Amino acid sequence: TTTVQSELIAAIRNIPDYPKPGVMFRDITTLLGNPRAFRRAIDELVHPYAGTKIDKIAGIEARGFILGGAIAHQLSSGFVPIRKKGKLPHDTVRIAYSLEYGVDEMEMHKDALKPGEKVILVDDLIATGGTAEAAVKLLKQMGADIVAACFVIDLPELGGRKKLEALGVNVRTLIEFE
Ligand code: PRP
Ligand code: HPA
Repeated sequence: TTTVQSELIAAIRNIPDYPKPGVMFRDITTLLGNPRAFRRAIDELVHPYAGTKIDKIAGIEARGFILGGAIAHQLSSGFVPIRKKGKLPHDTVRIAYSLEYGVDEMEMHKDALKPGEKVILVDDLIATGGTAEAAVKLLKQMGADIVAACFVIDLPELGGRKKLEALGVNVRTLIEFE
């Protein structure tokens, strides 16, 4: 564990039994509220891409919007929201995905990306990878060139990183929790 990783881990709040008994929820609101930790997380996520032209950052609702906006600014990229269904006002492409209980759908505006554009997908955390996998499928459907998928937190036991890597996606994460 590096100093930066220790700093990020210390800035995350752990909430036992949220949203249900037995789950340890990794709450990044404390990291976002800590100026030094927030900057560190963004700097660490983007440094491999400094000097690379990234057309768009695609952020997953809701916490992927906060990180993705900051990353887009840092890389001088555009920002594209991937939202839960029914929130976007113009024509969309939509995909269903599985949650722990049941299914949901996410969507992007049809004109948010042009084929061949270089995109980095961003969210706060990857668990089972169901959410990110669906986002990757949407981006591929739109012809995006997915440079990487970036997350602050990986829960490796839940297999999300492997799921994305099996789709040929380069995954970048900063810290892991059991
Ligand atoms: C959380 C998290 C990821 C997703 C990860 O979002 O921010 O988007 O779950 O889980 P997965 O890898 O098992 O799919 P949540 O569904 O709680 O939505 P929210 O950010 O809108 O609260
Ligand atoms: N924190 C935030 N989002 C999550 C978590 C968590 O611990 N587990 C699954 N999604």
